[in-house]
Amino acid sequence: MITGKFPNLRLRRSRKNDWSRRLVEENNLTSNDFILPIFLINGKNKKQSIKSMPHVYRYTIDKLSPVIEKAIKKKLPMVALFPYIEKKKKNFLGTEALNEDNLVCKAIQTIKHKFKNDIGIMCDVALDPYTSHGHDGIMNKDSVLNDETIKILKEQSLLQAQMGCDVIAPSDMMDGRIGVIRKYLDKNGYQMTQILSYAVKYASNFYGPFRDAVGTNNLLKGNKKKYQMDFRNSNESLREVALDIKEGADMIMVKPGLPYLDIIRLVKDNFKIPVMAYQVSGEYSLLMNGIYKKIINEDVILESLISFKRAGTSAIVSYFADRLDKIIR
Ligand code: PBG
Repeated sequence: MITGKFPNLRLRRSRKNDWSRRLVEENNLTSNDFILPIFLINGKNKKQSIKSMPHVYRYTIDKLSPVIEKAIKKKLPMVALFPYIEKKKKNFLGTEALNEDNLVCKAIQTIKHKFKNDIGIMCDVALDPYTSHGHDGIMNKDSVLNDETIKILKEQSLLQAQMGCDVIAPSDMMDGRIGVIRKYLDKNGYQMTQILSYAVKYASNFYGPFRDAVGTNNLLKGNKKKYQMDFRNSNESLREVALDIKEGADMIMVKPGLPYLDIIRLVKDNFKIPVMAYQVSGEYSLLMNGIYKKIINEDVILESLISFKRAGTSAIVSYFADRLDKIIR
């Protein structure tokens, strides 16, 4: 579509002044576009730094309130909780996931008790923080068993819903789990608990720092290629999303983010469902390290986040979410 040519047409005219650039801007960010991930750790009075993720911390439950207060004040719609589980509580089956006194359960209750519905809570459904081998489900030899794993995941989902979790977010990539979880929640009276399916989750090398944050990096045996998606594929993402929508997902997630903007756009063009994207730990740490070493300046943060919006996301899970006011300005 060419509507004129030089010298009559000069696209630089609308770029000349700041007011004019603002006038024609096609995308922008507000606090409503962000979900803040929070790492939890057992104990008291700790705000623990994470070696591979500058400026991101693990919090004990008693230190959570100020973090949530700040998130509410900044009008973030939701936080996502991730636990660091001590080695002695991990086992082959990941049974700590179903302990109603576990870290995530306590955190949900604490936040809901104090802040009611001022902010949404989203929780990962997967066994990796709880298993001794770091995989998302039950192992048999070198494979994760699909249907056996779902039996545990549906209990984990129900437990989180009972504690007050608003959005159940299965990130395990087992086949058929959304349908089973939806039915199980409904049967138990949790028809209004939402499901955000990590429908398109790639077996990515960008998850490294996260695995450090939740303490699974040294435990993980092999890789997750037998259940997470192959990064050479894109059409397959449409099949994953179609299935999860049919099974009852309210929203879907594409993950990682920046190297997968083509997938976000593809999904958005094909389905009219809210699409979230996860700017994962590796993306975050690369940007932060580049900024610290003065290889790039900090405006790359805004640039990378806007690209998610351009690609069609409704919201972005980002470790930058709590520093938005500085980033958006
Ligand atoms: C685990 C899970 C992972 C992430 C979120 N949930 C890692 C994995 O699948 O190994 C990654 C998030 C990030 O890298 O920031 N189910």
